[in-house]
This record gives sequence, C-alpha cells and structure tokens, in this order.
Amino acid sequence: MAQKRRKLYEGKAKILYKDKGNHIVQYFKDDATAFNAKKRTTLRGKGIINNLVSAKLMDNLISIGIDNHFIRRLSWREQLIHHLQMMPLEIVVRNIATGSLTKRLGINEGERLARPLIEFYLKNDSLNDPIVSEEHILCFEWASPQDIDDMTSIALRVNDFLCGLFSAISITLVDFKIEFGHMFDEKGRDRLMIGDEITPDTCRFWDTHDKTRLDKDRFRLDLDNPLSGYQEIARRLGVLPPGVLEGTSENQISSLENQPSP
Ligand code: TMP
Ligand code: ASP
Repeated sequence: MAQKRRKLYEGKAKILYKDKGNHIVQYFKDDATAFNAKKRTTLRGKGIINNLVSAKLMDNLISIGIDNHFIRRLSWREQLIHHLQMMPLEIVVRNIATGSLTKRLGINEGERLARPLIEFYLKNDSLNDPIVSEEHILCFEWASPQDIDDMTSIALRVNDFLCGLFSAISITLVDFKIEFGHMFDEKGRDRLMIGDEITPDTCRFWDTHDKTRLDKDRFRLDLDNPLSGYQEIARRLGVLPPGVLEGTSENQISSLENQPSP
C-alpha cells in the first residue's frame, strides 16, 4: 500500500481502512477460517479472487438496482466501499439442504427446498453465531420491523438474480450469506444496503453437472486442493484474465501483485 491508512477493523478474512469522508478501503486477506476460527489456514491467492468476485457480483447487483456498499475496485486486493453501520446479523438464503440445516433439522443432504428458505443468525463469535428468530431480533432491537421486511425481500431478489447468473455458467447456487447495514448519505437520508462480501467464502456453489464443491466447503470438509473452487468460480465468471492465478506458487502471486490490476 502506497500511503499509510488508519486500520479501523481486522476480521478473519478482511481488513478495513479509513479513507476520505464516508469511504472505506476493504482489503481481502488469504486467511481462511471455519467453525468459528477453530480451523485455520492460508489459501494463497484467495484474497485476490474474492476481491475480484465480490466486486463483480456487487457491481452487477447495483446495475439491477440492489443497493450495496461497493464503489470501485482499487487493486488486486482492495476495493473502495461506503461506510455502513452494520447490523449484528447474518442473513442466510438456502435453495438446497446442506451444512447446518441438515445437521440441525435432519433434512436430507442435497434435497432441493420447496421454496428459498431465509434464516437469521446473530453475529457473535463467542456464542458461535446462533440462529435467531424475527421475534429475537425485534425484542433485542438488532433491527427494526421495516429492516426485517426489507432484508427479506432484498435477500430473495439477490437469490433470484444470482441463481440465474450462476446457472448460465453451469453453477448451482446452493446457499449464501449476506449482511446489511445503513448508510447515511450526504443529504442525511438513511439507506439500507448490503455490505461485507459475496464470494466463495460466503456462498455454496456446486457444479451443476457433477456437483463438485466450488467454495469454502473444500476447506471446511478437507477436500483436495481447496483453492481450486475459488479459481474455477473466478474463471467461469470471467474475472480472472486467462492464464492468471492458475497456479498459486509464491512467485506467481507476488509477481501478479506487482503488476497493475485490470
Ligand atoms: P451453514 O450451512 O454453515 O449455516 O452456512 C450457510 C451459508 O452461510 C453458507 O453459504 C456459508 C455461509 N456462511 C458464512 O458466510 N459465514 C459463516 O460464518 C457461516 C457459518 C456460514
Ligand atoms: N466464517 C466462519 C469462521 O471463520 C465460519 C465458516 O465460514 O464456516 O469461522
């Protein structure tokens, strides 16, 4: 990074730096964690891929009128975003049963759900991000009734849009997690927006034909070559120029980071 920026927050996969006004620089790390950071590794190149993927998906959402924090990509690992007051909630949308849904309710792995299922989780590491109901959210004022309605309808629109986008590249969107916050614009208006990221860290993607896992489940489940899913998603979305990041040797990654990003 050329100039010194004030670090606002460091999470498990990203760092946020203060920028001018109400803007923030979001930096994507290569660290990968699962099961509330009980399992950790470094996947060299993951941060670059997640930055490119989230930039594309957020930008596409803006183009269909779904507000989010993304402004523009700055480099291989950084993007400029709006500063949001984040709600302490994760919103999960599921199309196919897997992960915690199968464990919690005994639903068969791989079963297509009769309708997209929305769930809310409280972001609290020490409690392992427990699932919560709308009643909990209202009782403890984690979000307003209007926020809950808006987050639900936006999450369903995001699901429809992403299902279509990924189906065109033979990928099934199994489930995903998004987070929301409020931005107070220059006119003092309060706008609800999607923040955080939309990447193979926060979505489950299966190859439509052979059901290969192309997301963080490769790491969670100890499948071989955990980064390969991220690389495949980026390639099919067309965000990695041909030949770039096909390998993940230290030399390739550091020489890439020394080149200007597309
Ligand atoms: P789950 O089946 O483990 O509850 O995950 C549901 C979706 O949410 C899946 O796409 C992965 C994503 N997710 C996150 O982005 N962060 C998390 O901390 C967890 C547990 C899941
Ligand atoms: N992001 C969570 C963690 O770091 C869990 C997960 O994605 O599985 O631990």
